[in-house]
Amino acid sequence: MEETEKIVEEAQQEIEKAQTSRALYETKMRYLGRTGKVTALLKGMREIAAEHRPAFGKKINDLRERLEAAFAAVEQKIKLREMEQKLKAEEIDVTMPGRHAQKGALHPITRTRQELIDVFAGMGFEVFEGPEIESEYYNFTALNTPADHPARDMQDTFYITDEFLLRTQTSAGQIRLMEKKKPPIKMLSPGRVFRSDDDATHSPMFHQMEGLVVDEGVTLCDLQGMLDEFARTMFSETSKTRLRPSYFPFTEPSVEVDVSCAACGGKGCPLCKGTGWIEVLGAGMVNRRVLENCGVDPDRYTGFAFGMGIERIAMLKYGIGHIRLFTENDVRFLEQFKD
Ligand code: PHE
Repeated sequence: MEETEKIVEEAQQEIEKAQTSRALYETKMRYLGRTGKVTALLKGMREIAAEHRPAFGKKINDLRERLEAAFAAVEQKIKLREMEQKLKAEEIDVTMPGRHAQKGALHPITRTRQELIDVFAGMGFEVFEGPEIESEYYNFTALNTPADHPARDMQDTFYITDEFLLRTQTSAGQIRLMEKKKPPIKMLSPGRVFRSDDDATHSPMFHQMEGLVVDEGVTLCDLQGMLDEFARTMFSETSKTRLRPSYFPFTEPSVEVDVSCAACGGKGCPLCKGTGWIEVLGAGMVNRRVLENCGVDPDRYTGFAFGMGIERIAMLKYGIGHIRLFTENDVRFLEQFKD
C-alpha cells in the first residue's frame, strides 16, 4: 500500500520532467507498460494472502487510473506545444514574390519557317526535306543548269568532291520529289543552303523554303494567287505582290516576286529604298526540261516553283537589320521573339 503512494509520487516527478511526447511515452511505459512498475505489482499479487487480494487489486486499479489521468493531462499540453513549434518552424510567407521561371523562345528562323509552313499547309502543301550534301546532278544538272553556268563556279558553291557539294538551293528537292511522286504535287521543302557569300544580308549558310506545284492546267495565275495569300498572311492584310521578268535555268518564264512594302504601305521609305516594293523570292513555271528529267510528261502537266530565303522574310517581318544576328546567339536579340 505504501509502495503505491511512492509510485504515484515518483511518477508525478518524472512526468513533470518530460519535455517531449516521446520522453513522456517512455516514462508511461516504465509504469504502465507490459514490463512497467504497476504491472510488476499486479504480478506480485500471487504472494499476497487470498483475503487481502480484492483490496489490493482495487488499490492497483486506482493507482493505474490515477497515473493514466496524470499522463493524459500532460500529454495534451505537450502535444499542443509541439504542434505550435512545428507550425512555427514550417511557416511560409505567402506574400513573398515568386521565383520567375525562365521561359525560352523559338529562334526567329524556326518561328518564321513554321509560319511559312502553316500558310502553305493551309493550301494543301506537304513538307518534303532533301539532303544538305547533294550531288551536282540534283543541285544543277537535273535543274537544267549547264556546266558553264556561273552559279556552278567555285566562287559561289562549296564543293566537297567533284561530284558532291553543299546544296546551294532547296530546288534540288524538286527533282528528288518528282522522281518519287507523280503529279498532282504540292510540295514545300524547307532547309539549310550554302553559298560562298558574306555581307549584311548574305551569309554562307542560310535557309530557304522551296515550293513546287505540278498538275494539269497549272498557270502563272495560280502562282500569283498563292503568293498573294502568303503575303497577306505573313506581312499585312493589304499586302500585294508584283511579278517582274527574271531568269532561272529551271523555270520558264521566270519571275522575281516583290511584296508591297509593309513599313510604308507602298508609298516609299528607306526600307524599300523609295520604291514601295520589296523583293522576296524567285519563281516561275517549271521548265519542261526539268519535268522531262524527272519523267513527268510536259505536254500533259505544267507546274510552278518558288524559292524564298527564310532569313529575308524574317528580316522584313521583324525589322532585323543584319543577317548575322541570327547566328550570334545573343540572348538579348533572341529574347525579343517570346510570345
Ligand atoms: N533556287 C532559286 C534561288 O536559290 C530560287 C527559285 C526557286 C527560283 C524556284 C525559281 C523557282 O535563287
